[in-house]
Amino acid sequence: MQVRSGPLVRGAVALDPGTALPAEWDAWAEEPAHQVLLADDDTVVGAVHVALVSAEEAWLEGVRVRADRQGQGIGRRLVAEAEALARRYGAGVARTAIPVHEYAAQAVAERAGYRPVTRAQVRETRLGAGPIDVPYDAHVRPARPEEAAAIARRLQGGETLRAWAGLAPLGWRFRTLLVPMVKGLARDGRVLRTGEPAGPVEGAALFALHRDAAVVGLVDGPPSHVTAMLGTVAERARAGQVHRLVVFTPERLPLPRLDGEWTAHPWCPDGLLIVSKEL
Ligand SMILES: CC(C)(COP(=O)(O)OP(=O)(O)OC[C@H]1O[C@@H](n2cnc3c(N)ncnc32)[C@H](O)[C@@H]1OP(=O)(O)O)[C@@H](O)C(=O)NCCC(=O)NCCS
Repeated sequence: MQVRSGPLVRGAVALDPGTALPAEWDAWAEEPAHQVLLADDDTVVGAVHVALVSAEEAWLEGVRVRADRQGQGIGRRLVAEAEALARRYGAGVARTAIPVHEYAAQAVAERAGYRPVTRAQVRETRLGAGPIDVPYDAHVRPARPEEAAAIARRLQGGETLRAWAGLAPLGWRFRTLLVPMVKGLARDGRVLRTGEPAGPVEGAALFALHRDAAVVGLVDGPPSHVTAMLGTVAERARAGQVHRLVVFTPERLPLPRLDGEWTAHPWCPDGLLIVSKEL
């Protein structure tokens, strides 16, 4: 069996990702990934993607094996090769997210030494065309980069990050929430905060506007602040002709009604299990 690895060119996957990852995963990714392939006589039989999400943290995704070659140890070998690659790039930990209903993938991860860290719910709603009718009972504004430390402290002390063991999703990839990351996002206008301008940070949200969806990776604060921040992201999304809002939360918490109902993301209707392994 030959092992090949190289940069993953967006969309150019060597083996249909199929059910192994949501179609939009690639488009929402924040950092480049490597593709590791296993081939038998030039036929690709398995693939996995590896991304370095911080200097020391790797993220594995999309592990998949050709249907007619499953159950022969190829999945295990792919994970081992992906970990070796991550280690070569300096990672000390690897993580991945598995839909809660995917027992086979969980079994593979468990056999490879991955342990559950936390769970996340991924929910989405359609945004209509009219004005968004939510109560704005909080002062919401974009965070300035110099507020990054205060925002990180607020988030680290909040329920969401505590439930997620200090990990925050960007795109779909969970990584340790650090001040430089918040600073970089604030510089790109992707952090909202609530509270009086000169006062303490009361709530905060990290989000991204993609072509197909606005994605709120992390939102924390009093309920009325969460409502106001989601409303703000929704307004921004619609201004950019984006009509889908996706929100990550630790549990199936009630979310404010914007235009339509909230539904679970079809790839992970029961949520995601985040697993981790020291390399
Ligand atoms: C999940 C998948 C990658 C596993 O690949 P695979 O080559 O069949 O797995 P392996 O043969 O290497 O098995 C690795 C280990 O997991 C165990 N395992 C594999 N499938 C299992 C299953 N359905 N139930 C329980 N254990 C399972 C094996 O017993 C093996 O354990 P061992 O190391 O102690 O022998 C493959 O089934 C697949 O491509 N599925 C579709 C895509 C997908 O769901 N990807 C995961 C998205 S999160």
